[in-house]
Amino acid sequence: MAKNNKLKARRRDPASRQKIELVNENRDLVREHFNSARINIDYSIIKDADNGKVFVITSGLQSEGKTFCSINLARAFGNIQENKVIVVDCDLHAPKLHRYLNVPNKPGLTDFLSNKNTFPESCFYNQKENFHVMTSGTRVPNSTVFLSGKLFRSFLRMLRKQFDYIIIDTPPVLQVTDACSFAAHTDGVVIVTRAGQSTKPALKQTIETLEKAQATILGTILNDVDFSKQGYGYGYGYSYGYGTEGDTSDS
Ligand SMILES: Nc1ncnc2c1ncn2[C@@H]1O[C@H](COP(=O)(O)OP(=O)(O)O)[C@@H](O)[C@H]1O
Ligand SMILES: [Mg+2]
Repeated sequence: MAKNNKLKARRRDPASRQKIELVNENRDLVREHFNSARINIDYSIIKDADNGKVFVITSGLQSEGKTFCSINLARAFGNIQENKVIVVDCDLHAPKLHRYLNVPNKPGLTDFLSNKNTFPESCFYNQKENFHVMTSGTRVPNSTVFLSGKLFRSFLRMLRKQFDYIIIDTPPVLQVTDACSFAAHTDGVVIVTRAGQSTKPALKQTIETLEKAQATILGTILNDVDFSKQGYGYGYGYSYGYGTEGDTSDS
């Protein structure tokens, strides 16, 4: 009940509605920015051609746009017809992928990993946009155990054999250790920061936490930039940078 109220309240929030309208109005621009992030990510992962590239989308805190960026990156990679792409919802604490894509959450990742469902049953192909989606699945009490074990690592190996690009949406690293627990077994991590929301100290701490977990940091996405405020001349966008270059203000 409380959850529903929260959802309703969010839907009525005029600022967030305005933002989504802005995204819809600027679809081509959004596509263009995610396309350049796609190229940068692709170039920053160097590996043999036989295995797919696995990368993690994360951030320090919640609501910085991890799921939003995961979906838009899946679209950007899927836009190239020969690419085989999957986005996996590994945020077992606050899964959102299914909501944004309007698909059922079960069966999904946890159902497949616990052998309740087969892989084809646990994933869905968005034919129009050419990417596969694996939702988080049935809620489990022990998500960190689930994502840090051998089983999950062999799941990543299986995905590498079947897909060219594997995008992993995760919970915030400063709140949950899940992303850190498997980041080192992927090809790298993309950190999302949100303009006007993320802070430099939190970003610094996020980078340090990921580095301690032996993750390779591929770059940062500065999400939700209002370029018009900064004199860029056009309304809306993202930037992609390396290390801390994509930093936000101290807000
Ligand atoms: N660039 C953006 N423009 C407009 N709305 C955005 C943008 N990025 C995120 N949002 C919205 O902000 C909210 C939180 O984003 P989400 O991707 O769920 O964050 P996270 O996964 O980091 O918790 C969602 O309602 C999402 O639609
Ligand atoms: Mg999310």
